[in-house]
Amino acid sequence: MAHTASVSTWAFVFSFYFGVSKCYFAIPLKMYAGRYNISSAVDLTRRVPLTSDENGLSLASDPTGTVNFLDMVNNLQGDYGRGYYIEMLLGTPGQKVNILVDTGSSNFAVAAAPHQYITHFFDTALSSTYQSSGQTVAVRYTQGNWEGELGTDRVSIPKGPNGTITINIAAILSSEGFFLPGVNWQGILGLAYPMLARPDSSVEPFFNSLVQQLGIPDIFSLQMCGAGTSASSTVDPLVGSLIMGGAEPTLYRGSVWYTPIVEEWYYQVEVLKLEVGNQNLELDCREYNMDKAIVDSGTTLLRLPVNVFNAVVEAITRSSLIQTFSSGFWDGSKLACWMKGETPWRFFPKLSIYLRATNTSQSFRITILPQMYIQPITDVDGTLECFRFGLSSSATGLVIGATVMEGFYVVFDRAQRRLGFALSSCAVSDGEALSEIAGPFSAADVAANCSGGPPKEPLMWVISYALMAVCVMVLIILLLLLVLPCRRNRAGEITDESSLVRHRIK
Ligand SMILES: *[C@@H]1O[C@H](CO)[C@@H](O)[C@H](O)[C@H]1NC(C)=O
Ligand SMILES: *[C@@H]1O[C@H](CO)[C@@H](O)[C@H](O)[C@H]1NC(C)=O
Repeated sequence: MAHTASVSTWAFVFSFYFGVSKCYFAIPLKMYAGRYNISSAVDLTRRVPLTSDENGLSLASDPTGTVNFLDMVNNLQGDYGRGYYIEMLLGTPGQKVNILVDTGSSNFAVAAAPHQYITHFFDTALSSTYQSSGQTVAVRYTQGNWEGELGTDRVSIPKGPNGTITINIAAILSSEGFFLPGVNWQGILGLAYPMLARPDSSVEPFFNSLVQQLGIPDIFSLQMCGAGTSASSTVDPLVGSLIMGGAEPTLYRGSVWYTPIVEEWYYQVEVLKLEVGNQNLELDCREYNMDKAIVDSGTTLLRLPVNVFNAVVEAITRSSLIQTFSSGFWDGSKLACWMKGETPWRFFPKLSIYLRATNTSQSFRITILPQMYIQPITDVDGTLECFRFGLSSSATGLVIGATVMEGFYVVFDRAQRRLGFALSSCAVSDGEALSEIAGPFSAADVAANCSGGPPKEPLMWVISYALMAVCVMVLIILLLLLVLPCRRNRAGEITDESSLVRHRIK
């Protein structure tokens, strides 16, 4: 059509109507990497250990009468893409440190030595209550790692439950790629279960200590208010709330929908279905949970297993009618830029994730609008507004990261082994809600269990080694089969085919 030719010019920026038809093109003006450093996004889920290693929840319940949730509202600050952190007073006398809130790990670790990217650190020598255990601990992530010393000390949270508790601390002495340029936090608060603690599960995680020593209910809830705001805007720091001991009703609208925690290590949930613009992706539900599906505040994006990611990108491309998008946009290496004021959101579909309900024959769905996953980042050039794709592919399972969590108030109800989702009071832009939640739906159309095999890491290693041993045996048998016929053949001829196989084996 003649229309396409005009698209290349600046003036015709980006939307075109084909008479009465509803088709329009939305072609970004520019695709380029810009100044935004994609790799600076926090992604703490892909970690590999270095050593061998419904209903009826009384919300805002306060059995002890000593916890006031309103005092905890807005106790988080954030830096879009680099995580939300809470202020703590560590040691005696208390040293002020900012600690990143991460539901995808289980160690409390804090910088205990200077590092070029952080402004200050926890000086163990200045704390009269710090006790070193002499044991070292190391945690490695795909993009970085840290090493330190295990110890204990006293900690209090100014905007948290009243009281001082003794916790396990990993004092970080050296690290690589863990602290990033411009971060305003000095440590990490792993809120997941003991099974993920390093070096082993005997290192009691922070929240377990908090519940035990202060007697608060074994629940925390998280509201992260970064939705629809520009990335890396340091002018207006984002806020959020970590409510320890329950849920604060002023932080959400409507009811809380619960999904069971499949296994207590990460906060593992069961995803039943994905929809792109009301269109079911129709994949086997096990694909969504391959090899796990978790809720992780320490991951910026919504990460999807490769197959699922490809299907989602295809469905978005189809329903948005944006065929000309550079693949660099989808893989995160490029930004798409439009004229200022021309936001591209109306060209993109909603994304819905169906989660198993506590009544296992039912599900509910959480939906994010394009405003949540086509994410504005600081402008690269004064006339353009640039966006990145808030989804990425993953080799380690589905991760419901900040991109989705920012739409919801998420209740980590450990006491009843379930996660609750409700509409977040702050996921609103220009009076429009950026997220939706609906249910119940029948789960009769999906398998009774979508959460693949056993998630336990040590067991996975055993299985991996067993499979490797089987492979080696098969190889030996194959080699023998190759060698034996040769021996019988006195002329020693090896056909082309067999040598090819040999080369392949090598
Ligand atoms: C802590 O105690 C003070 C005074 O007793 C009280 O006003 C405040 O609400 C308490 N804070 C929390 C988070 O419970
Ligand atoms: C669970 O859901 C099924 C199907 O929707 C319904 O028939 C059943 O009554 C529900 N069970 C409970 C305990 O609510």
